[in-house]
Amino acid sequence: MTTIGFIGAGKIGSQLARLSIQNGYHVVLSNSRGPETLAALVQELGPQARAATAREAARAGDIVVVTVPLKNYRSVPVEPLAGKVVIDTNNYYPQRDGHIAALDDESTTTAELLQEHLPLSKVVKAFNHIYAAELTTHGQPAGTKHRRALVIAGDDPEAKKTVEKLLDQFGFDTVDAGPLAEGWRIHRDTLGYGPRRTAEELRRDLAAAQRPPRP
Ligand SMILES: NC(=O)c1ccc[n+]([C@@H]2O[C@H](COP(=O)([O-])OP(=O)(O)OC[C@H]3O[C@@H](n4cnc5c(N)ncnc54)[C@H](OP(=O)(O)O)[C@@H]3O)[C@@H](O)[C@H]2O)c1
Repeated sequence: MTTIGFIGAGKIGSQLARLSIQNGYHVVLSNSRGPETLAALVQELGPQARAATAREAARAGDIVVVTVPLKNYRSVPVEPLAGKVVIDTNNYYPQRDGHIAALDDESTTTAELLQEHLPLSKVVKAFNHIYAAELTTHGQPAGTKHRRALVIAGDDPEAKKTVEKLLDQFGFDTVDAGPLAEGWRIHRDTLGYGPRRTAEELRRDLAAAQRPPRP
């Protein structure tokens, strides 16, 4: 039985946990305030769910989702995530996260920052451009005409296959943007960020994306 660990159990974390449970996974949830604050969510999710510290959730997960305000990415536990597929949903909002120079000057991407922090993990960017509420309402079975697609980016092909399989189970087609360095194509305010898109439409959006010029 595969366990999905969650570092962050807010709007996105809780929705992905619901999808995980619906698809037969076990989940271990964590947040910044401690497992006891997740009792209501664990009760809603049922016996396949439990709450833990971030370190325990990282250790327990076969796959681990990091879904926290980007400003806190450096507090994600490093050692228990070594060797694991880590899904990064995070986006950069300076008004929330403060300014991060390497993002302001476009010299890196949000997921490359997490990958630098987790050098032995296999980071895959996913679920960053869909509103939390839509995760449980927009999914459709594989093969459905006009099925919604979501972008992934990552440097490890096997890890990307794992995440693509998860996306398919959760009801979405996958569009591969390439390595983590290409993740800017689906950063905040790009064409594909937010609207419902099929795979074909999303590929067009990624190709047409314009990176803001370096200051
Ligand atoms: N909301 C959306 O529709 C959406 C869509 C796509 C991507 N995103 C991105 O995904 C990320 C999560 O968004 P969200 O809307 O789910 O945020 P959220 O509702 O504010 O939830 C954030 C979660 O992260 C936890 N957290 C914060 N710092 C932590 C730390 N150091 N260690 C462990 N857990 C920590 C919080 O726990 P506490 O409550 O205990 O502090 C909370 O459970 C953000 O980067 C966001 O930009 C959001």
